[in-house]
Amino acid sequence: MNISFRHLLSADQVTQEDIQAICKKASFFHHNTSSSIFDLARGKILASLFFEPSTRTRFAFEAAMQKLGGNIITLESGASSSTKKGETLSDTGRIMSGYCDIAVIRHPQKNSATEFAKHATIPVINAGDGSNQHPSQSLLDIYTINHFHHRLDELSIGIIGDLKFSRTVKSLVQLLAFYKRHTFYLISHPSLKMNTETVAWLKKCGHQVIETKSLQDTLPLLDIAYMTRVQEERFDTKESYDAVKNHYRLERAHLTHAKPTLTILHPLPRIAEIAEDVDTHTSAKYFDQAQFGLYIRMALISEMLGLEI
Ligand code: CP
Repeated sequence: MNISFRHLLSADQVTQEDIQAICKKASFFHHNTSSSIFDLARGKILASLFFEPSTRTRFAFEAAMQKLGGNIITLESGASSSTKKGETLSDTGRIMSGYCDIAVIRHPQKNSATEFAKHATIPVINAGDGSNQHPSQSLLDIYTINHFHHRLDELSIGIIGDLKFSRTVKSLVQLLAFYKRHTFYLISHPSLKMNTETVAWLKKCGHQVIETKSLQDTLPLLDIAYMTRVQEERFDTKESYDAVKNHYRLERAHLTHAKPTLTILHPLPRIAEIAEDVDTHTSAKYFDQAQFGLYIRMALISEMLGLEI
C-alpha cells in the first residue's frame, strides 16, 4: 500500500504523498486499458451504500470496481436497509464487514461514514456525509486541476456558489491548502459564505483569500472557476432556498475577458448555475472532471485493497 490511511473519511487524513500516489495510479488507469487491469480485484466485493441520491459517485465507484474485475453489492436508499428499523450505522458497518472487502457510503448525516467505520474491519470510503466531507471528489478535483494546468501551486481559484453547505468545497480547499501561494476568490451570497475558521486557516497556510460578490469582475483573474450547486436539501425552508438559488449563473457571454487557460469546474450536478451554452466553450472541463472520477475511484479501490498492478 502506498497510502497512509485505512479508511478515507475526510480530506484532512490525506497527505501530499497520498495525493501523489493516488493521482499517479489514476493516471495509469486513465492511460492504460491493458487487460491485466481487469483481473486486479477478482473475487473482491465492494458494498455501495447510498442513503442519498447520486449519479457520479455511486456509478463511478461501481464501474471502477467492475473494471478492476471485482463485484458489487448495492443499497440504493436507506428505506431498504435495516437502519430503517433502527439499526445503528456502526452495527451496519460491522455486519457489512463480513460480506464484502471494501465499502463506500453516502449518507445525509455529518460523520455518518465515521460512525459506519467505527467497528468495520474493511476499508470504508466516505462518499459524502451531509454538508461535511466528500474526499474522493476532492482527489478527482485535484487530478483534474493538475491534468489541465500541469501544476498545483500558485493558482487563482474562484469558488462560486454555496460555500456554506458544499462538502466538495470543504474537502477541496483542504487539499489545495498543501500547495503554495494560491489566491482564493470566494464568491457567494452573504448567507452562503465559507466559515470564518476555514478562511482564517487558509490564510495561515500562506494563501491569499479575497471574499467578493462579483463573479463577472473576478472571472478575468481566474485560472480556475469552481462552480457549485446551491444545496437545496440542506436548507430548512423552501423560501430560504428560493431566495438564493439563482444568485450566480455563468453564461458564455461572461467569458469574453477570461484567460484562455481558464478551466471551469463543477462537481455536478448543475442546476441553473452554468448555462448550457458554456458546455461547448474550451474552458468547460466539468464533464472531463466527472470522467476522471472513474480513474480516481479505480486508484482508491486498488490502493485501499492493497492490489498491486
Ligand atoms: N459530484 C457528486 O458527488 O455527484 P453525485 O451527487 O451525482 O454523486
